[in-house]
Amino acid sequence: MMNIIERLKKIMPKHVQPITTNRDEYFAVVEKISREASQKTVELNRQNRLKYLIGRSGISPLHQDCRFENYQAYTADQRAALHQAIAFAKNFGSGFGGFVFSGSCGTGKNHLAAAIGHCLINKGKSVLCITVADLMMRFRSTYEKHAEWSEEGLLRELCNVDLLVLDEIGIQHRNSDNTQILINQLVDRRTSHKKPIGMLTNLTGEQISGVLGERVLDRMMMDNGIWVNFNWESYRSKVKCHA
Ligand SMILES: Nc1ncnc2c1ncn2[C@@H]1O[C@H](COP(=O)(O)OP(=O)(O)OP(=O)(O)O)[C@@H](O)[C@H]1O
Ligand SMILES: [Mg+2]
Repeated sequence: MMNIIERLKKIMPKHVQPITTNRDEYFAVVEKISREASQKTVELNRQNRLKYLIGRSGISPLHQDCRFENYQAYTADQRAALHQAIAFAKNFGSGFGGFVFSGSCGTGKNHLAAAIGHCLINKGKSVLCITVADLMMRFRSTYEKHAEWSEEGLLRELCNVDLLVLDEIGIQHRNSDNTQILINQLVDRRTSHKKPIGMLTNLTGEQISGVLGERVLDRMMMDNGIWVNFNWESYRSKVKCHA
């Protein structure tokens, strides 16, 4: 050990100092570095797994640039929505309360959900934001002849993701009974495993209860789950393509 350090000292520039010359400390540092590196790989794999599972990483290309910093909040309600989203991301991991972003079109529900997602991915968490229609399509494909995933396997994976955001809750689905059962199952399983879930919708609370049943909303509000109303003018006409 000393030999190595002595030999390294000879070839190292003067300003470079070894992290330690103590043997035990040296091994502790090496162990810490390799533990952190392998943790990073595990986390990266978790996000990459989503690519394999869903065909893309957790956040859709349209919302790749959405951040808290580029969310324009002009009114008190918009500022409140922004702050609730920031607080959710900041406190992530301290509980399993989820969020419902409910309101009219183009008001930034996906924008803030994607901003939360980016923030968590940067912290090494896995995030999937998926529309209910895509989710149903993915589940239907588990019944194909040579399907890679079983229904149970897919359900398990979706329950492993650190944050699952279900988008377009309440848009009419081809088989709404199956959709309701699946969303119930996901919410039930995730909350019982203390994993948060986010929902984006144009429906009101009463309408969601009508579509998905009261049990779902009741579970969504567990452990300080938040409900945020997005009821202002659509931002879509202001969106410009920078490409
Ligand atoms: N306050 C805002 N500041 C900056 N960009 C915004 C804001 N609100 C919305 N946008 C942008 O407008 C577009 C539409 O927003 P978004 O997709 O979040 O709407 P939504 O609330 O999910 O609407 P819908 O209910 O129709 O799905 C996105 O490109 C988003 O980045
Ligand atoms: Mg949306």
